[in-house]
Amino acid sequence: MKTLEGRTALVTGGSRGIGAAIATRLATEGAAVALTYQSARDRAEDVLRAIRAAGGTAHAIRADLGDPVQVRDAVAQAAGVLGSIDVLVNNAGLLRHGPIDELTLDDYAQTMAVHVQAVFVAVQAALPHMREGGRIISIGSNLAVRVPAPGFALYAMSKSALVGLTNGLARDLGPRGITAALVHPGSTNTEMNPADAEHADSERALVPLGRYAAAEEIAATVAHLAGPGGAFINGTAVVVDGGANA
Ligand SMILES: NC(=O)c1ccc[n+]([C@@H]2O[C@H](COP(=O)([O-])OP(=O)(O)OC[C@H]3O[C@@H](n4cnc5c(N)ncnc54)[C@H](OP(=O)(O)O)[C@@H]3O)[C@@H](O)[C@H]2O)c1
Repeated sequence: MKTLEGRTALVTGGSRGIGAAIATRLATEGAAVALTYQSARDRAEDVLRAIRAAGGTAHAIRADLGDPVQVRDAVAQAAGVLGSIDVLVNNAGLLRHGPIDELTLDDYAQTMAVHVQAVFVAVQAALPHMREGGRIISIGSNLAVRVPAPGFALYAMSKSALVGLTNGLARDLGPRGITAALVHPGSTNTEMNPADAEHADSERALVPLGRYAAAEEIAATVAHLAGPGGAFINGTAVVVDGGANA
């Protein structure tokens, strides 16, 4: 049985990597999906084609989520085309990393704009379109909990902001029957963090399971949170990192 039949979902950064896997999985579960992309239109269209070929419904929306006006606009477009937003997945992200004394204010502004401000704005914009039973699921990182190597202070800081936001949303929105949860992936094989990169062996060495996650494994957790099994999971984070933070 499909767990998301009759539901609608907006996935940010759905053109590649973890977001593409989430959009595809939610559509497979029966949700009508809207996904956003920034510049990879061809990749977004590939995802749409695959979802539609499997009998699903999907739409793509272009937006630079560093710009709050475009965030609001993308959410409004998604609500227009889907009729509602039952599931909001805040996934889009970027990695600016390096020693703290080398990171620039532009690195700070871009990272915080996409990882934090865009999530805050998307939640505000989605709420008028979210019915009781709504789910807000954000993609953090296991680095929000533990930073096992140098160079990730900015990235980790931005992802840990989502912990406070998710906890606060649970308190604010629980009485409206809307839940908020966070997924903290560990090393996941995407263009952001390829499993065949030079440094990949040092990441793998931190994981008791000795491998990177596939994007589909992160999507499986998001699908669980979005579906009936996630109904009572609120104001908390699920770490999906193969035990790296253990
Ligand atoms: N891969 C990992 O090991 C890992 C681990 C922990 C957490 N995460 C988190 O998981 C999420 C997905 O990461 P990923 O590995 O799948 O990354 P990815 O393959 O690099 O994909 C990033 C996605 O975000 C979109 N995006 C980036 N900047 C944007 C902006 N300014 N406005 C709108 N969209 C933007 C990209 O759109 P375009 O395709 O149009 O550029 C793309 O769809 C991120 O939040 C990341 O921090 C990843």
